[in-house]
Amino acid sequence: MAKFLVTGGAGFIGGNFLHRMVKQYPQDEYVCLDALTYAGNMETLQPIMNCSNFKFVHGNICDRDFIFKLFEEERFDYVINFAAETHVDRSIKNPEIFLKTNILGTQTLMDASLKYNVRRYHQVSTDEVYGDLPLDRPDLFFKEDTPIHTSSPYSASKAAADLLVLAYHRTYHLPITISRCSNNYGPYHFPEKLIPLMIQKALRNEPLPVYGKGENVRDWLYVDDHCIAIDLIVRNGNDGEIYNVGGHNEKTNIEVVKTILNILNKPESLISFVQDRLGHDLRYAIDPSKIEKELGWKPLHNFNSGIQETVKWNLENQEWLSHVESGEYLKWIEEHYNS
Ligand code: NAD
Ligand code: DAU
Repeated sequence: MAKFLVTGGAGFIGGNFLHRMVKQYPQDEYVCLDALTYAGNMETLQPIMNCSNFKFVHGNICDRDFIFKLFEEERFDYVINFAAETHVDRSIKNPEIFLKTNILGTQTLMDASLKYNVRRYHQVSTDEVYGDLPLDRPDLFFKEDTPIHTSSPYSASKAAADLLVLAYHRTYHLPITISRCSNNYGPYHFPEKLIPLMIQKALRNEPLPVYGKGENVRDWLYVDDHCIAIDLIVRNGNDGEIYNVGGHNEKTNIEVVKTILNILNKPESLISFVQDRLGHDLRYAIDPSKIEKELGWKPLHNFNSGIQETVKWNLENQEWLSHVESGEYLKWIEEHYNS
């Protein structure tokens, strides 16, 4: 039996991770800590709220006193840090909160992990720390030793956090692992990100805003495959190691958007090319051979099956989406903490 702290579990990937783990490991205990920012949603945790091995705690990873008290009370064996500000476009408009949460929040969690001797601190990182690859070199992939070279305030903050995690390992011998995954998609994806945004716009016959010429490439991974990889790394990964996670599903943005329109039987005339993102990364592509060889991980979904399932989930969960779009989901905080 082990006790896990999962931060950022009311968000997209952390929520999917908890849905799977709480049911897969009934002997383990999972505590979800989340600040419930605009990206955190208690409705995402509904499927596991009544499970006896699950508990939700509302709090901020930057709040040192609160974090140390929580660690003192709960005595976690494992800490998995999903909590972060994650939207590149928001980081371009307002970098500061990205630096606070993504860097200083990580430091606070690691300080508490050191004091309370956790068995493993796992940092959920991103392939964006490697910067981008050229469009005309399909032979190039991100490997774990590809130099860090960031583009946006978001990716710079994630890279800074990764360096700090490695420093805590070397200097204080904190037992750590880091995963760097490519773009995720699937259920409970906040509709400010490309795939859920385009599905919602297409359903309403609204213009689909594609940045630049739509030629940028992302390497899409179904969220469940990322969650399985993190679980494997936390339980079986080697101390101090970085693992890249990706399934070789590279697509240009325009291909992704056309696929969504095709599944929904909507016309391509809905596509609207708009001003490009500042500093827009051209291509991401992961080489996952280390996690495949060392931990036996392989993705279970390819893009064709995953995107069909994702469109279906969005169609069947319009209530969850409409509460996100209207801000209704934020009422949970008001009802629970301000009444
Ligand atoms: P998300 O934005 O959907 O969720 C983030 C969660 O963190 C939210 O529930 C939010 O309330 C919480 N949070 C934010 N600030 C907090 C704070 N100060 N204290 C406590 N909780 C806080 O993000 P996501 O897409 O699920 O990403 C999760 C992690 O995975 C992030 O670290 C991200 O960098 C990484 N990642 C994401 C992707 C992707 O494609 N989405 C790919 C690779 C890595
Ligand atoms: O690679 C992992 C990263 O993937 C994560 O670390 C980030 O947290 C996550 O948000 C995601 O970052 P991206 O910037 O790649 O995702 P986003 O969905 O914002 O954009 C995907 C691509 O689509 C990107 O090339 C920009 C483009 N785009 C995005 C939006 C929101 C558009 O063309 N139009 C849009 O409206």
